[in-house]
Amino acid sequence: MKNPQETENSEIRSADQPSDERQYDWEERYKQPNSAPWDSGLPAPELEEYFASLGQGNYPKLVLEIGCGTGTNAIWMADHGCAVTTTEIAPTALEAAQKKAAAANKQIDFHLIDICETKPVADGTQDFAFDRGVYHIIEKSKRQLFVERVATALKPGSLWLSISGSKDEYRENPDVGPPQLSAIELLTPIEPHFAVIKLERSYFILDDGRKHLAWKALYQKR
Ligand SMILES: C[S@@+](CC[C@H](N)C(=O)[O-])C[C@H]1O[C@@H](n2cnc3c(N)ncnc32)[C@H](O)[C@@H]1O
Repeated sequence: MKNPQETENSEIRSADQPSDERQYDWEERYKQPNSAPWDSGLPAPELEEYFASLGQGNYPKLVLEIGCGTGTNAIWMADHGCAVTTTEIAPTALEAAQKKAAAANKQIDFHLIDICETKPVADGTQDFAFDRGVYHIIEKSKRQLFVERVATALKPGSLWLSISGSKDEYRENPDVGPPQLSAIELLTPIEPHFAVIKLERSYFILDDGRKHLAWKALYQKR
């Protein structure tokens, strides 16, 4: 049965609708005004909830954020005592992130790299990985590699919090809004490298307040 609160602004999509294989020019999107609606400027509620569940003093030490955008979540984690390394492929976004980190007096190890091409950290070094809206935009042929890269960066037993668009949201026009993955599309590349600790519904709340159904997933490196 639908939970009315959860399905606000969305309807349930039938499982046989085609998956989203869009490709973006990320640099162009950050350069154009109002074309990065995901960039709310606020830390991800899922990240705040996760840290709250750990409690102060138990936050991860070495953290990798993939696709940090303009750096809001990386700076928030640095503010919580984490040593943060980030990857990003859009120079305009990374430059904005670097400026914001400097203004906040936070040291963050920023890398302008595609995680599928270059390793941002030494293998087996990170305590936690985070991505919001990045795994879901990776083209299908590279998803396995992306997951391997995240797994390789983490220490055994470390966790990855990942927020992805959900195909369970019905849209008149699937091209408007974040890419959408079914649970099977989401988890198939994950399964060989990570155990699924949690898979829940969440929302992307965009800069104009619109909401899109999302997967909040917590994985543990096998
Ligand atoms: C939807 S945006 C989300 C940005 C940020 N995580 C946030 O929540 O504001 C996706 C981001 O991933 C970056 N990105 C896309 N492919 C990437 C890759 N292969 N490696 C690193 N970053 C990537 C894009 O440039 C973009 O900043």
